[in-house]
Amino acid sequence: MNPDDDVCLCFRVSLRKLDSFMRRTHPTVPSQLSDCLGAGTGCHWCVPFLERIHGQWSRGEKVDLPVSPEDYASRRARYRQTGTRDPAGTESADSPGFEPPPAS
Ligand code: FES
Repeated sequence: MNPDDDVCLCFRVSLRKLDSFMRRTHPTVPSQLSDCLGAGTGCHWCVPFLERIHGQWSRGEKVDLPVSPEDYASRRARYRQTGTRDPAGTESADSPGFEPPPAS
């Protein structure tokens, strides 16, 4: 994902905006990213990704998501249709609140 690609598609909050917000406000928990233009407060699709980004930032790592914007958007569309999530790109200890969909 490039810096100007949106992480929160509901509110058009880009990776760059989130990175700047974290550097400016030093959020202690991922949920504080909702103060950045409402990120994560719409359909909730981006919440595990916000958690991952916050984890990267907290460790001093480069903030990035290993997913193309097209794939990200299509997975969100599926999530909105089915209510289930493809956890790819969210796997890590950074997502304590994220529960993968049940095995089928
Ligand atoms: S994509 Fe962020 S709340 Fe919907």
